[in-house]
Amino acid sequence: MLQPSDVGHLMGGRKVARIVFQPEDIRRRVVELGAAVGEAYPDGDLLVLGLLKGSFVFLGDLVRSIPRPLQVDFLVAASYGAGTVSTGNVRLVYDPETRLEGKHILLVEDIIDSGRTLNRLLQVLGERNPRSLEICALLDKHLADSVLAKRPRFVGFDAPHEFLVGYGLDHAEDFRHLPFVASLAE
Ligand code: IMP
Ligand code: MG
Repeated sequence: MLQPSDVGHLMGGRKVARIVFQPEDIRRRVVELGAAVGEAYPDGDLLVLGLLKGSFVFLGDLVRSIPRPLQVDFLVAASYGAGTVSTGNVRLVYDPETRLEGKHILLVEDIIDSGRTLNRLLQVLGERNPRSLEICALLDKHLADSVLAKRPRFVGFDAPHEFLVGYGLDHAEDFRHLPFVASLAE
C-alpha cells in the first residue's frame, strides 16, 4: 500500500493528506466496470464519450477493459477554474464530430460533484437522438443524487466529501498524473 510519505516526488511541494484509492483498487474496479459495460450493450454501436480533461486517465483504462467493439470521442465542458468551487456555469468548449444519432452513448466522467456539468450535457446530448444515453463515473460524491436528471448507470467508487486529486482529477491543472486518488493536505 502506498503511503503519503512515498509520493512526495510527484507532488511539487504539496502534501497528500490521505491516499483514498490505491492504484490496485482502481485497476481492479475499472476491470469490473469494463465487464459490466460490455454486458450492458449486447448489440448496437457504442460511443464512449469522455468528458475532458478529468476523464482521460479513467477513460484510457476503461475502454481497454470493455470486451466489445466501440468508438471513442471527447467533449470539454469547463465548470471549474483554478478554484475548487463549482460556479454552475458550464461551458461546452468542444462538440464531438462523431454522429450520435442511433448510437449507444456512454458519457464518461471522472467525478460527480454538484452534477451541474452532467445535467447540462444530458440535455444537449439527448437532443441528438442517441439510441441510449448513460453515465459512467469513476467517483460519485452523492451530493447530486436529487438534482441529476439521470443517475449514473456505472459508478466506480463512492467518494468522500473532500477535494480529491489524481487519476485524472486536478487541482489547478496539477496532479492529474497521479496513479492513485488522494486528498490534499491544507
Ligand atoms: P460538477 O458539475 O459540480 O458535478 O463538477 C464536475 C467536475 O468538477 C468534475 O468533472 C471535475 O472535473 C470537477 N471536480 C468535482 N469535484 C472534484 C474534486 O474533488 N477534485 C477535482 N475535481 C473535481
Ligand atoms: Mg477539474
